[in-house]
Amino acid sequence: MKHEIATVRGRQIWDSRGRPTVEAEITLAGGATGRACAPAGASRGAHEAIDLRDGGDRFGGFGVDRAVAAVNGEVAHALAGRDVRDQAGLDAVLAGLDGTPNFARLGANAAVAVSLAALHAAAAAKGRPLWRHLAEGRPVRIPLPEVQIFGGGAHAGRRTDVQDFMVMCPRAPTVRRAFEITADVYRAAGAIMEQTGRLAGVADEGGWWPMFASNEEALETLAQAIDRSGHRAGEDVFISLDVAANELAHGDGYRLPLDGAELTSEAMVERVAGWAARFPILSIEDPVGQDDTAGMALATERLGERVQIIGDDFLVTNAERVRRAADAGACNAVLVKVNQAGTVTKAKAALDAARALGWAAIVSARSGETEDVSITHLSVGWDAGQLKVGSFTRSERMAKWNELLRIEEQMGDDAVYAGAGALPASVGRGIPERQE
Ligand code: PGA
Ligand code: ZN
Repeated sequence: MKHEIATVRGRQIWDSRGRPTVEAEITLAGGATGRACAPAGASRGAHEAIDLRDGGDRFGGFGVDRAVAAVNGEVAHALAGRDVRDQAGLDAVLAGLDGTPNFARLGANAAVAVSLAALHAAAAAKGRPLWRHLAEGRPVRIPLPEVQIFGGGAHAGRRTDVQDFMVMCPRAPTVRRAFEITADVYRAAGAIMEQTGRLAGVADEGGWWPMFASNEEALETLAQAIDRSGHRAGEDVFISLDVAANELAHGDGYRLPLDGAELTSEAMVERVAGWAARFPILSIEDPVGQDDTAGMALATERLGERVQIIGDDFLVTNAERVRRAADAGACNAVLVKVNQAGTVTKAKAALDAARALGWAAIVSARSGETEDVSITHLSVGWDAGQLKVGSFTRSERMAKWNELLRIEEQMGDDAVYAGAGALPASVGRGIPERQE
């Protein structure tokens, strides 16, 4: 039985923040192996699966001894002898073994590493790259990247209230070209910040760590950087924001310390809509907090025709939350983070639920990452259409972007860049055609 799981091994490795994380390695009876690492968030939603940490003094409480022990103990025991091709069955065993709705017992860090390692092993047994294994012969596209230029929020000492200031190049002919344009913008942004004394290093995901006096100044600087790069804002390059407003929740509303503002939910939506009116913003993630359904519905009603409204903390890669949001008219896109769900199967269910609604989907990294490039393959193999990895520096980010270039090359003449077609339909249609 070539596809039978022979061994499951867990080990502690280190992530991009120098914190312990879980790696799992699965070996099949036929000799094929698969390996994956758990990422870790810093701005997490209360409804996501639980990242199990040891607590106490060691490693600031971030130890993963218990999660690693679970992999080497009961998980290894439960999966031994099972057919690795039955991903849904394996993931059901993990969920059943855990016994809680959110992997609170085994840890989603243990579950996600094992679930992804199994997927890699299944692809390896077939002798195929993971993206091709997932595509199963269906045509799939190279995703549209969302790339961070400035980090803020929980990723940069809350230096800006908005967490991610990113760019997207939906009109580029290829992802290769999209990266070239992005690199130009990143460099131009750094140069402007250095000249104006606003550069303080790089943030958690590799974006510039900014010293702006307001969130709007960050937007202005980003628009300037696009101009300075020689590309056209609102034509070649668009702005994408992750407000991560959950981190700004205060009482019934929101507090934006940098802007000195205390806002009701309606006023928060109004503020974000004001930014979208003044800047070429194509995508906004979590403009309100994780349980502010009325605010998310208002943002979607106000902006959803021309701006992608993504739920991250709001949807936590949960199919049921996706459907409930849709019933309320909230969001038109889902962020897919496998570790928010705990398993590949649950994450795929959230993606499928979004797709059934005609929504867009973005496969995403976490702020704590490793050299693991699984998400690049998921974004392609699932034909999600979009990929969010962080910025355009630091190898835990670049490994994922570079993998996309290798996949593009493997596809050869069949490579199709999703570009604007990956956005919610009305948003994609609204983008002006590129003037040559
Ligand atoms: P994280 O957040 O720090 O929880 O990974 C990233 C995001 O909000 O998209
Ligand atoms: Zn987010």
